[in-house]
Amino acid sequence: MMEMIPVKSMLIAHPGGPLRGEIELPGDKSISHRAVIFGALADGESVIHHLLEGEDVLRTVAAFQAMGVAARRTDAGVWHLRGVGLEGLSEPEDVLDMGNSGTGMRLLAGLLAGQPFFSVLTGDESLRSRPMGRVAIPLARMGARILGRNQNRYAPLAIQGTELTGIEYVSPVASAQVKTALLLAGLNAAGRTVVSEPALSRDHTERMLAAYGVGLERHGLTVAVTGGARLRGVALTVPGDISSAAFPMVAALLVPDSDVTLRGVGINPTRTGLLDLLLMMGADITLENQRDDGGEPVADLRVRHSRLHGIQVPPEVVPRAIDEFPVFALAAACAVGETVVTGAEELRVKESDRIQAIAQGLGRQGADIEELPDGMRIRGNPGGLAGGARAEAYGDHRIAMTLMVAGLAARRAVTVTGRANVETSFPGFGTTMATLGGRIEQRTEE
Ligand code: S3P
Repeated sequence: MMEMIPVKSMLIAHPGGPLRGEIELPGDKSISHRAVIFGALADGESVIHHLLEGEDVLRTVAAFQAMGVAARRTDAGVWHLRGVGLEGLSEPEDVLDMGNSGTGMRLLAGLLAGQPFFSVLTGDESLRSRPMGRVAIPLARMGARILGRNQNRYAPLAIQGTELTGIEYVSPVASAQVKTALLLAGLNAAGRTVVSEPALSRDHTERMLAAYGVGLERHGLTVAVTGGARLRGVALTVPGDISSAAFPMVAALLVPDSDVTLRGVGINPTRTGLLDLLLMMGADITLENQRDDGGEPVADLRVRHSRLHGIQVPPEVVPRAIDEFPVFALAAACAVGETVVTGAEELRVKESDRIQAIAQGLGRQGADIEELPDGMRIRGNPGGLAGGARAEAYGDHRIAMTLMVAGLAARRAVTVTGRANVETSFPGFGTTMATLGGRIEQRTEE
């Protein structure tokens, strides 16, 4: 028998000169998932441009293909979906594997709860350890029959679709995944489904349902949908992902003499928390060429090297910057003075425990980051990070990319080990950074 030699893959980010130039970012991950889901449920064809062709979104596309939706790629990022209507999905023959994607799993749980068939959702090790009770519990109140591991808290989730009834749900967390899962269930439920949240989470679902022709009621932190509304096929363009833009943005702020323009980035106010925080820290970022694309505001962002100072993060900004705290922590670690993040306990249940992963990974490169139960205290060093160490990505794309940006800005190279999963949200990250002058190398070790 042949002996298997384990091959370890590593990413090494090297410090270098200024980052300069213009880049376009891949499509927004949240918006891409929704474009696929609503396109599949619409009557008629939808054409999506600039769809994120990252691992997470392709899993969602594959799940709908397994339920009888024709999805055809005609060009890079251009997808034609033949919608089957709200009642047109068919029972998948196999388990639906959502990979690393919390959005894919939670949104599909909501949708599948009201379909007249049986389905099973699973995912990778990270996804199987993320809380699913936050959707399973309110969906059960609507009549859903969902079973999962550990008293229905974890995937795999087995869903026996059934008839649902709308509820009024006051969510304890500001989560767009919870909100969207319930609204998707509500599309197939009797009566109204009303969701309130403690702070406004990203509102792409609300904007896109409107674009697909569904009348929603929105009042402050409450949104409602009435069952049976039809979706009409549309043509739309997905804006560049501000959560991906965050990496070259912080890299340009930290590497001396950098001047980078990020084209066509979505600046939906529910997503621009990082911009607000960096501006508060003294970052030189300007918004140019602001426009609207399919109900979502878009701009080009010009970012220049800046001297940053520490801040106290206002709690109300936290939900609007939730995915950006890993790279924000890096910016704060290189700023003058102290930065404190609190009220961000959600970071513990993302693709990894991001508070722990960041404190450890950046700590190894010389950052002074103290873990708090719901955030972190960062004592900045404007001299920058020493680098020179290995750190674990924990299968988390945003941890891996943060560590790579740290390497571009540090005094010595940073090596990222473990599954990096960068393809889930930012395919071509290394190449994109290379066009700006950043050197990221992939190496395998036996
Ligand atoms: C997302 C919502 C957020 C975010 C995730 C994408 C979405 O998660 O962190 O990356 O597309 O709805 P929560 O709903 O758990 O806050």
